[in-house]
Amino acid sequence: MLIFKKVTDLQGWLDTQRQAIGFAPTMGALHQGHLELIRMAKRRGDTVVASIFVNPTQFNDPKDLEKYPRMPEQDATLLLGADCDVLFIPTVEEVYPPGLDLTVRLDFGPLERVMEGIFRPGHFVGMATVVKRLLDIVQPHHLYMGQKDFQQLSIVRSMLQQVHSPIELVMCPTVREADGLAMSSRNVRLSPEMRAAAPVIYQSLLAARETFKTEAAGKIQTRALQQMRDAGLQPEYFELVDGFTLLPVTQHKDHSLVVACTAVFAGDVRLIDNLVIHENPDQAIK
Ligand code: PAJ
Repeated sequence: MLIFKKVTDLQGWLDTQRQAIGFAPTMGALHQGHLELIRMAKRRGDTVVASIFVNPTQFNDPKDLEKYPRMPEQDATLLLGADCDVLFIPTVEEVYPPGLDLTVRLDFGPLERVMEGIFRPGHFVGMATVVKRLLDIVQPHHLYMGQKDFQQLSIVRSMLQQVHSPIELVMCPTVREADGLAMSSRNVRLSPEMRAAAPVIYQSLLAARETFKTEAAGKIQTRALQQMRDAGLQPEYFELVDGFTLLPVTQHKDHSLVVACTAVFAGDVRLIDNLVIHENPDQAIK
């Protein structure tokens, strides 16, 4: 595996490649969820570039940025094991050259105003800005992102559409621990008590899927929030939303895709997760 820190070095190498380029942007502290993006890209025959960049502009809480786990050597070893071709691990100056304003100013409508948009102001502008910048650098054919961050994925899809990008966005299913907890770089910061309690997040999502066809959305929501509070977690939201507009749903029959999305504090660690709870197979998400 090659490791590049400079944009020009990376681009010089990419110019010599003939296969399709698959790109998986990450913030490091890699786990099997990230590696699954790499493996999927490899299975599809791509030359795979992974990036590790803890993007300061998408952290609304400076403490969260400071505490974000960083372990580049371990990450490089994991990427090598997943047969990744290139790791791009730039500095902040390389991504954001001083004097250049690269801020993405697109209107994502309700996609950026609900859920994470309410609780993490500025997060999605920062996220879209860095993803756009990284895409401009790498110029991949395929972009691999996880369903784990469903709202992020929806915004990136909208961005690609708005700028008429030819890049294909590939959604990779959420990889979970054996007890259902969605893998996340933040999980390493959970206390033993909170780690033991955290699987309730997935259980509440499964319960929502179970009862969605027979119960009112409001009732499902209230019970899920209570279930998580009873387990000692502090939920911020638990929403049942249309998988395309991200607007709240009340009845499944009006929607071809419904996703339950939640954000929860487990101690001082903020976790997000989601689950498709209703899908019309004729209109599967692309
Ligand atoms: P990060 O949280 O490191 O995630 C990088 C990619 O891995 C994202 O596409 C995310 O959805 C995916 N991912 C994380 N956990 C996963 C899991 N358990 N199963 C499947 N996929 C998973 O998301 C970001 O970084 C940043 O916002 C980024 C897009 C890199 C921009 O800075």
